[in-house]
Amino acid sequence: MLNRIKRWKNQKPASTLRDRVEQIKKLPIPEHVAIIMDGNGRWAKKRALPRIAGHHEGMKVVRKTTKLANELGVKTLTLYAFSTENWKRPKNEVEYLMKLPEEFLGTFLPELIEENVQVKMMGYKERLPVHTLRAIQKAMDDTKDNNGLVLNFALNYGSRAEILDAVKRVLNDCQSGIMEIDQLNESAFSSYLMTSDMADPDLLIRTSGEIRLSNFMLWQLAYSEFWFTDVLWPDFSEEHFLEAIEGFQSRQRRFGGI
Ligand code: FPP
Repeated sequence: MLNRIKRWKNQKPASTLRDRVEQIKKLPIPEHVAIIMDGNGRWAKKRALPRIAGHHEGMKVVRKTTKLANELGVKTLTLYAFSTENWKRPKNEVEYLMKLPEEFLGTFLPELIEENVQVKMMGYKERLPVHTLRAIQKAMDDTKDNNGLVLNFALNYGSRAEILDAVKRVLNDCQSGIMEIDQLNESAFSSYLMTSDMADPDLLIRTSGEIRLSNFMLWQLAYSEFWFTDVLWPDFSEEHFLEAIEGFQSRQRRFGGI
């Protein structure tokens, strides 16, 4: 009996999440949401599992979050899946992280196509294994004509390197006369970044209680709203995502004005 009462108490009516989504959709939705998906390792450790079990669980959360973001009308969802610094991790973990895009896309690509999602990647391709690149390239090719949510994987991405590369290309273009130094303004510089074809994030979410940017989109996050939560990424539910969006909607963005 007690168990039945417990079960009943934990059961939410099926419409609750949908109702909340409908309410949220009445207010402005962030066009671009960026997420630092942190805490997979700690999630696994708490369960005496290997770290890669946390990454595997995290992959399922990527799926749920993508679906919900698309449903809400978010235009771009950028996910920090692997940083230029993550190569320092143990070999087996790096190898597993490099297999995740294949596993994710191998499982979910048909659904992403069905949902009109467009897959993109930003980051340095050089060091990525061929099998990883092949899976991403296939997903990008198969979804290139889709015009729903852009699911942008930041893979082997580092913001300082991105900015430095942009500076070098600006200098090259100035030297070769393609660009005049006086033409260089914020919008011109943005066009040299890996995000040249997307708006800056309106909302940054970081899970797991860490309050730092870890070399993620330093230029692009200049005016974003930040949402930090203690929830570990594998535990990040649809409700948590909606909470972050509601939090965003309750903020007053002034962009330096009053
Ligand atoms: C940070 O947690 C997480 C990562 C470096 C990997 C993120 C990858 C996923 C969420 C899997 C989904 C990826 C794809 C491509 C579908 P951490 O390992 O640093 O956690 P910790 O701080 O608790 O150790």
